[in-house]
Amino acid sequence: PKSFFFTRHGESMFNVAGKIGGDADLSPRGQDFAKRLPDLLKDNLGEETKLTVWTSTLKRTMQTAAYLSWPQLQWKQLDELDSGVCDQLTYEEIEEKFPSDFTERDQDKFNYRYHGGESYRDLVQRLEPVIMELERHHEADHAILIVGHQAVLRAIYAYFLNYSLDELPYVKIPLHTVVKLTPKAYGCREDRFAVDV
Ligand code: F6P
Repeated sequence: PKSFFFTRHGESMFNVAGKIGGDADLSPRGQDFAKRLPDLLKDNLGEETKLTVWTSTLKRTMQTAAYLSWPQLQWKQLDELDSGVCDQLTYEEIEEKFPSDFTERDQDKFNYRYHGGESYRDLVQRLEPVIMELERHHEADHAILIVGHQAVLRAIYAYFLNYSLDELPYVKIPLHTVVKLTPKAYGCREDRFAVDV
């Protein structure tokens, strides 16, 4: 079976400011990660020499993939969880403006839907075509790298690692780390490559 790789985009200006959502540029540190990515992949692709890169339509994923010379595909379905009226706020601001929502989300993070936005449950549904394509590509002659977002990668990772829907919104997906998953008859082999930027 084919492996696929995934990573969050490099650190963005919103990550630095602690704001969620938005469409921010990479921070200087995020840019460094983007520049290190081509060599990291070349060193770890193994016998698979061809790669297709999937990004979202948000700047931070495209900027992270900008130095990669493989073919790229943008998926709207890979865009980060839509946080609706809370988009571009910090968690502190959300707690101040929408205190009951903050508690509600804490009680059932998987089902909580942002006003004018999405829940993790919505996100899982939106990602169905992406997951189907990942399942199908086992026959292809190239590996895939997804440059994605925290919530989106939680959903994809949880699917392949058989995490429960309750656990899914809490899976840790660190920045500046490339994860390689190789599906096996039972479960997945997992390799992680952290970049110190
Ligand atoms: O903070 C980065 C981010 O990707 C936000 O854009 C997104 O809303 C959030 O992480 C998802 O994490 P959580 O569901 O834990 O708030």
